[in-house]
Amino acid sequence: MGSLNLYILKRRIRKWWKYLVVLIFLLAVYFGGFFHITGNISTTPPSEHSRNTMKEVFALRRQIRLLKSVLKQYSIPEKEYSDVLLPVIYVITPTYTRPQQKAELTSRLKSVFLHVPALHWIVVEDAPKKSQMVSNFLESSGLTHTHLHQSTPQEWKLKDSDPKWRKPRGVLQRNAGIRWLRSKFAHDANPRGVVYFADDDNTYSVELFHEMRDTHKVSVWPVALVGGVLVERPLVGSNGQVSSWLAGWKADRPFAMDMAGFAVNLSLLLNKSGVEFSIDAPIGFQESVFLEKLITQEELEPKADLCTKVYVWHTRTEQPDLKQEIRLNKVGKHTDEGIEL
Ligand SMILES: *[C@@H]1O[C@H](CO)[C@@H](O)[C@H](O)[C@H]1NC(C)=O
Ligand SMILES: *[C@@H]1O[C@H](CO)[C@@H](O)[C@H](O)[C@H]1NC(C)=O
Repeated sequence: MGSLNLYILKRRIRKWWKYLVVLIFLLAVYFGGFFHITGNISTTPPSEHSRNTMKEVFALRRQIRLLKSVLKQYSIPEKEYSDVLLPVIYVITPTYTRPQQKAELTSRLKSVFLHVPALHWIVVEDAPKKSQMVSNFLESSGLTHTHLHQSTPQEWKLKDSDPKWRKPRGVLQRNAGIRWLRSKFAHDANPRGVVYFADDDNTYSVELFHEMRDTHKVSVWPVALVGGVLVERPLVGSNGQVSSWLAGWKADRPFAMDMAGFAVNLSLLLNKSGVEFSIDAPIGFQESVFLEKLITQEELEPKADLCTKVYVWHTRTEQPDLKQEIRLNKVGKHTDEGIEL
């Protein structure tokens, strides 16, 4: 009986040995790899060093989980932070020295930009040299940044008595930003990115930056509290193209839009050599004159649910009341002595 069983077993083995070999091989690879990875734990007693490494890996994993949940809370799509090839958004911000400057740069811009992945902030001071305040601010901001300066000639500067729209504001500073981009990508055949002009007196929401992230040529969206109306916006026809403009002031401008209402594909901007903002554009036509050099109305890409959502507001901060400061200054006292605000 026993020898018969042995005989059958031998025959079976002869029949199946090839499969057995393959199986054993696969098991060896599987466990071999496994032992290789976990070798420190299972075969040799873990050294102090490797135990610390494992601890660090676990801690990092926990952190990633936590960060993912935070990003989810701010409704930042996973694609935005996991795609290493995400096109960078270059934000150009002209700024000038004033008591509320740091507050504006902090609350209106930095706090929002910190929630936006792949953002490069180009800050251009209207000044003969970079200020220590802005340098320190950018250094400690945690943002990828470039700090430039470009002063506006005295005769172009706004006086307190001038209406805000009288003279071109931020023109030379935006152009300095554009020139910096041109020289940075001078030898790049296929630069990828998006350019946005963000003044430091608007309010931006994080969603705005998701919207502009893929801009094939020029993308557009509504801007609230601008031009004397609640919302200035492109009107989108049934073909999905911009058909006209809803604006209070000069709605017949070729592109009746505020600076905050559009973003430009970096490659398009760089392709059109020499395109910049114009110092002699008629009052209120700065955006229009610039965009005419880049695009036609039909080519515009309406964002923000076909221009039905508001993600940016033109909200100015009230001038701070400094009557007492001025009085104190006259008797030689300065409340900002030894402290930066
Ligand atoms: C900008 O345009 C180029 C060329 O058409 C394209 O390859 C690139 O993907 C566009 N960039 C974005 C951010 O869509
Ligand atoms: C810019 O020019 C390059 C090369 O001619 C072209 O491949 C690219 O599509 C252009 N970019 C845009 C946004 O039109």
